[in-house]
Amino acid sequence: MQDLLLLVFSLTLLAVVVGGLLVRPINAMHDRFASVRWALLRDFSPVLRRDVFVTDRATAHRLLVRGGAFCNRPPSSAASSVLSRQQHHNIGSAPYGALWRAVRRNLVSEVLHPSSRLRSHAPARRRALRGLIVDLREQSKSKPSGSGVVLAAESLHAALFGLSASMCFGDGVDAARVRAMADGMEDLIRSLVGLRVFAAFPALAELVYRERWSKLVALRRRQEEMYLPLVHARRRRGRSGEGEPLAYVDTLIDLMVPDGDDDEDSGASKRRLTDGELVGLCSEFLGAGTEPATAALQWTMANLVKHLDVQEAVRAEISSVVREDADEVAEEDLGRLEYLNAVLMESLRLHPSVPSVTRQVIPEDHVVLDGARVPAGTTVQFPLDLLALDKTVWSDPDEFRPGRFVSGGEGEGINLVAAAGSAGEIRMMPFGAGRRMCPGMGVAVLHLGYFVANLVREFEWTEAEGELAVDLAPHVGFLSVMKRPLRARLLALRRREGLIK
Ligand code: HEM
Repeated sequence: MQDLLLLVFSLTLLAVVVGGLLVRPINAMHDRFASVRWALLRDFSPVLRRDVFVTDRATAHRLLVRGGAFCNRPPSSAASSVLSRQQHHNIGSAPYGALWRAVRRNLVSEVLHPSSRLRSHAPARRRALRGLIVDLREQSKSKPSGSGVVLAAESLHAALFGLSASMCFGDGVDAARVRAMADGMEDLIRSLVGLRVFAAFPALAELVYRERWSKLVALRRRQEEMYLPLVHARRRRGRSGEGEPLAYVDTLIDLMVPDGDDDEDSGASKRRLTDGELVGLCSEFLGAGTEPATAALQWTMANLVKHLDVQEAVRAEISSVVREDADEVAEEDLGRLEYLNAVLMESLRLHPSVPSVTRQVIPEDHVVLDGARVPAGTTVQFPLDLLALDKTVWSDPDEFRPGRFVSGGEGEGINLVAAAGSAGEIRMMPFGAGRRMCPGMGVAVLHLGYFVANLVREFEWTEAEGELAVDLAPHVGFLSVMKRPLRARLLALRRREGLIK
């Protein structure tokens, strides 16, 4: 019944909008009704929209990297965007413009800058790693008859989420609250696909999908209850003291953003972020900072379980670089672990945890495909797995073969920025490409390298049997994750008496 209602409504709307478009050529939209039609197109795009898929690398490079300003996304299904009718914007949902520039620049330079900021969170990374090792050791001992099989997926997620929470709100957030935030985030991610209808039909969908709407409101309220007391506490205490890392939320509290669409350099008035915007941006940081990275970490460890020779080669490389009595593989060691880096590249190529990059054509864009201008409102999808499987770039592209990224391989010397188009062509783009490329790539690769190296050094990872075996089949939704969460049999390789979480 709900679907029928939507269908009838959509067809009526389709007739109105398409009728309007037919009486004028699409590229003559700068008339006085253009903005009305554009707003309709934008709001109802998931029903009206024509999705175009770009799977060839040259076209992707032309549109995303050389195409200049083609960098808006369709209306977002992030909770704050949906609930605010696309008024509250985080980095990912903001239209290309002054607000987007201000919030993105803040994240990149105030939190993720490698030498000046990211380094200050090293103690939080070390704590997260230690907690993870203790957790995995305990699990491997306590499972039935000491079988050593652990549900690694949950432990990896908890460790990365805890780390993101401490980067976001500062150290010392109560563990129970962090767990509650992680649960809330998982609920939200699970709901995201179903929320797309709200991005499209705010008013109608609210009426039709009442249960879904109430759930969204409840999820968001829970987020506000969990995040805002932490925000207020940080606001009261002011910027952190000498030597203490700056939390993301500190930078947001201080941030002045342009009050309108005018560019911040043009002397436009500025304002502080509202509490609603703060909650949305923190939610984005926690979600974007944890979920795709956890998926990528699982995919990498799963491949190391399936390819024991590769796992052994990673361990041997670590032994050649890190002293046996060193407590951990330190962040500074990672730059010397060339084969480890090759393993990460290969895992990101074969299993991009964000399945697709999306752009939406706006009237100002001039996007041409197959010789024809693509109409405003069209959603253009770039499926990341297909783009990274091109036989003209990779031999046996479906195979997990890290050796292709070391000396003599077709990917030798290539880094992720070059692979995503800066070297003149796209070869793989797990972090997207162009101006809206993921700003968290550096920190994500740092976390992946640090955790994978240490987990391989601490444990031997082998496959369990039957239902517990590693299955590399993906479940593709909002993210591309392992359909069967990672389990493995772990054998501790190092003496760790007295290790405290
Ligand atoms: C393995 C981990 C990660 C993967 C695979 C990943 C992937 C992506 C992809 C594919 C995009 C879309 C890019 C585009 O449209 O061209 C994106 C955007 C984004 N990512 Fe990540 N990401 C990861 C980790 C992170 C981390 C750690 C953060 C922050 C701490 C982050 C924050 C963001 C933000 C804010 C955007 C939106 C950027 C914009 O619209 O300007 N991501 N990410």
